[in-house]
Amino acid sequence: MKDFIFHNPDKVYFGKNQIKYLPEELLKLGKRVLFVYGGGSIKKSGLYDTINELLKTNGLEVFELAGVEPNPRHSTVNKGAEICKKENIDIVLAVGGGSTIDCSKAIAATTLIESGDVWELVSNNVWVTKALPVAVVLTNAATGSEMDAWAVISNMNTNEKIGLGGNALIPKVAFENPELSFSLSAYQTACGAFDIFNHVLDNYYFAGEATFDMILEFQEAVMRAVVKWAPIAMKEPDNYEARANLMWASSMALNTVLDAGTVHDCACHAMEHELSAYYDITHGHGLAIITPRWLEYILNERTAPAIYRLGVMVFGIEESLDEILGAKKTIKAISDFCFNTLGLKSNLSDLGIDDKYFKEMAEHACFGSIITGPENLTSSDIEAVYKM
Ligand code: NZQ
Ligand code: ZN
Repeated sequence: MKDFIFHNPDKVYFGKNQIKYLPEELLKLGKRVLFVYGGGSIKKSGLYDTINELLKTNGLEVFELAGVEPNPRHSTVNKGAEICKKENIDIVLAVGGGSTIDCSKAIAATTLIESGDVWELVSNNVWVTKALPVAVVLTNAATGSEMDAWAVISNMNTNEKIGLGGNALIPKVAFENPELSFSLSAYQTACGAFDIFNHVLDNYYFAGEATFDMILEFQEAVMRAVVKWAPIAMKEPDNYEARANLMWASSMALNTVLDAGTVHDCACHAMEHELSAYYDITHGHGLAIITPRWLEYILNERTAPAIYRLGVMVFGIEESLDEILGAKKTIKAISDFCFNTLGLKSNLSDLGIDDKYFKEMAEHACFGSIITGPENLTSSDIEAVYKM
C-alpha cells in the first residue's frame, strides 16, 4: 500500500431538494457568474429557467455560454475565457454533463492566463494551480468530472483529445439531483454507465496489488452498482434509486476515494480518447468496444487472478475454475454486459471506424512511448487492440 494524501474540497449537495442552496453557495464565491451549458437539453427540461430565476432573484449577475459540444472543443473554451476576461466573471457555473463541466473547468483556468488559449495549457501538460472557482449542476452520471481534477478537451483541427489536470480544477461545489438525469436517453445512460464502470476497472488491477482490501471491495461495490442499476435506469428512466446509485457511483469512481494506497491508471481511456479525437464518437461507447478486447489482449497467468476475481465479485461467476478459464468467463460477462444488457454496438466498424488511422492513433495514445497498466502497451500493442 502506497502513502497517500486525500484532499477533495468539493462540497456536494445530493438529492431532490438541494438546488435552493445554489445562490448562497455561489454568493460565497462572487457575484458575476458565467452560466455554461450544452446543446439545449436543459432548456427542454426546464432547468435553464429554474437556474436563471434562482440566480437573478438572489442578486447574481448572469452571463451565458451556450452550445458546449459533446467532446468539448478548445475553441469553445477560448470563447468562454474571452467572456470571463471581458466581463470580470467571478465564478464559472457548469450545468450539464461531463462535456459542459470540462469546458467550464478549462474556461476557469484559461481566463487566468495571458494568451487566453487553452491549448497552451493542454499542449504543455500544465498542472493547473490557478483558476476561477467552478460550480456544477450535474445532469448526467458518467465522467466523474463533477468531483475530479480533470477536464478533457478536443482540438479537432489536429485530431487531439487531451486531459488537462490540476487541483484548481476541482469544483468548489456540486449539485447532484438524480431527477435531473431522468431525461437521459437509454443510449446516453448506457454510455455513461460504462464510463463509470471503466473508471474503476482501469484501476482495479492495481488496487489488488496494493493489498488494500477495503479499497478493492469498495471498487467492486461501485462496479456492482453499475451492473445492477444501469439496465433498470434504461428501462425505467424515472427510477430515482437507479439514477441515484449511478450518479453517486459516477462521483465516487474518480474523486480519488478509490485510488487510496494505489495508483490510478487509465489504459482504456488513453486508447478511447484517440477514437473520439479522430471520429467524434461518444466516449462511453468507445470504451465499451475497447475494454473487453484490451482484457483479452493482456490476459496471461499474472493478470488472470485479478480479472477472475472481478468476475466472481461483480458478475457472480463461480469460484472454483482454473484462473485463465475464470478470467475468460469474466471477459465474456463484461462483453455481454456491454453489448447485450446495455445494447451498445460491439465493433468500431459499427461506428464508421476503419483501420485507416489505427497506426497514427496508436502512436498518439502512448505519446510515442508506452501506456502503463497491468501490461505496458507499446504502439504496436495498441494497434493490435484496435484491430481486435
Ligand atoms: O448538450 P446537451 O443538450 O446538454 O445534451 C447532452 C449531450 O448531447 C446530453 N445530456 C446530458 N444530460 C442530459 C442530456 N440529455 C438529456 N437529459 C439530460 N439530463 O447527453 C449528451 C452527452 O453529454 P456529455 O456531457 O457529452 O456526456 P458525458 O457526461 O458522458 O461527458 C463526456 C465528456 O467527458 C469526458 C469525455 O471524454 C467526453 O469528452 N470525460 C471527462 C472526464 C473527466 N473530466 O474526468 C473523464 C472521463 O473519462 C471522460 O474522458
Ligand atoms: Zn471516462
